Amino acid sequence: MTDQNLAIVVLAAGQGTRMKSATPKLLHPIAGLPLVSHVLATAKALDAATIVTVVRHERDRLAAVVSAELPESIIVDQDEVPGTGRAVEQAVAALPADFDGDVLVINGDVPLLDAQTLSQFVAAHRESGASATVLSAVYDDATGYGRIVRGDGGAFDGIVEQKDATPEQLAIGEGNAGVYVFSAAALRQQLGKLTTDNAQGEKYLTDVIGLLRAAGSDVSAVPVAEAWLVAGVNDRAQLSEAALRLNALIVRGWQLAGVTIQDPASTWIDLKATLAPDVTLLPGTQILGATVVATGAIIGPDTTLVDCEIGEGAQVRRSDATLAVVGAAATVGPFAFLRPGTILGTDGKIGAFVETKNAKIGTGSKVPHLSYVGDATIGEHSNIGAGSIFANYDGVNKHSSQIGSHVRTGSHGVFVAPITIGDGAYTGAGTVVRKNIPAGALAISVAPQRNMEGWVHTHRAGSAADDAAQAAQAE
Ligand code: UD1
Ligand code: CA
Repeated sequence: MTDQNLAIVVLAAGQGTRMKSATPKLLHPIAGLPLVSHVLATAKALDAATIVTVVRHERDRLAAVVSAELPESIIVDQDEVPGTGRAVEQAVAALPADFDGDVLVINGDVPLLDAQTLSQFVAAHRESGASATVLSAVYDDATGYGRIVRGDGGAFDGIVEQKDATPEQLAIGEGNAGVYVFSAAALRQQLGKLTTDNAQGEKYLTDVIGLLRAAGSDVSAVPVAEAWLVAGVNDRAQLSEAALRLNALIVRGWQLAGVTIQDPASTWIDLKATLAPDVTLLPGTQILGATVVATGAIIGPDTTLVDCEIGEGAQVRRSDATLAVVGAAATVGPFAFLRPGTILGTDGKIGAFVETKNAKIGTGSKVPHLSYVGDATIGEHSNIGAGSIFANYDGVNKHSSQIGSHVRTGSHGVFVAPITIGDGAYTGAGTVVRKNIPAGALAISVAPQRNMEGWVHTHRAGSAADDAAQAAQAE
């Protein structure tokens, strides 16, 4: 049920300078989703009356993600005044004027924070009756975090930013997680008083705490159970730490749901992927995007699937596939490259060193060895000979090929599109198919073989080949 007394502000306006990236920090992905999407999903789960997301740097790119993932969020554009305090000031101005509930502020760069931790945090704030509550954490290394300054008896006095801290304050291990609840009235009162008079020349949201204390209000800092839950991502080292942690959680979740995962450390699974019970993932496997794997399938080792659909009992070994569908009990690899539009039927096979693109390969049909199949439809129970190439591109346009059912093509065939091969037809080895083949015909395009007797002796006299040939003839 919607919490009418709760408004959520997600801060997503910063550039993320420490990432040193052309991509805004909050659009860097972990588990297949931009950092900001993780925070938006958590915010959504709290079912607040209003959600405001503040954007500025690359605002259109951020706004597009916000509108797609959380259309109910109000998007506020931060002006040229920098700092988290300014961002919240402008967000609060977008709330209904009569809103006097709690405002939960979440930094956009804390992707591992979960909804349960957040709702317990809001509940703790409401129970305490404080005008503001800060989520804190005792970090192994608090470098970069604002430090929680406590007075005599442990009372929470304020937050001092890394760059403004004294050496004694830098030694404090308790850091500000970047997640706060304020009573709306208290927040409105203090935001206007923020200045940019600090080391970074920004309006710090964290200064609101000190201002509230000075005004005699109660504030509290509640430590989170485990610091990794609120690890902030500022640079690429922290990005990979967050990705690793989230992946470990996802892998464990699937293991407990009945998936065999031999080597969690080398297995990567995106949040949107789905695995059925009794799937087996072998080492070095990446299940990415919205990939769906049915029961009994064995994936890996060393396999990457992006947005694929893998059927029951199928096997994909040492292969790379994107937007491909693999039918039940079909086999793929080793070393296959399935590009978008590949649809392999039940019991079908795409074997070693085969590349496919926009290729529909019917039930029981096989492309076992060393081939390229592009823009083709192959019927049922056909076999494409080793080393076959579907020549789909004439240098200007792409054309397609239709191969019937129960077709047997010889090794090293070239199928020059557009062509059609009828049901039950055969081709000889090395055939270059340029014309349609009717059902049941055998097509041969190579010239009859001529043996020029003694050619080696006349043209390569004295070579090792000549010597061997002479010896063989003398026997
Ligand atoms: C901030 C806190 C720090 C805390 C840390 C936790 C302040 C002043 N400091 O520092 O106490 O320990 O988070 O991770 O708040 N943002 C805006 N507008 C801006 C600047 C930033 O919306 O003008 C957004 C960013 O996109 C980001 C979040 O606010 O999502 C935090 O900004 P960041 O620059 O990462 O702050 P920290 O230095 O980490
Ligand atoms: Ca940060």
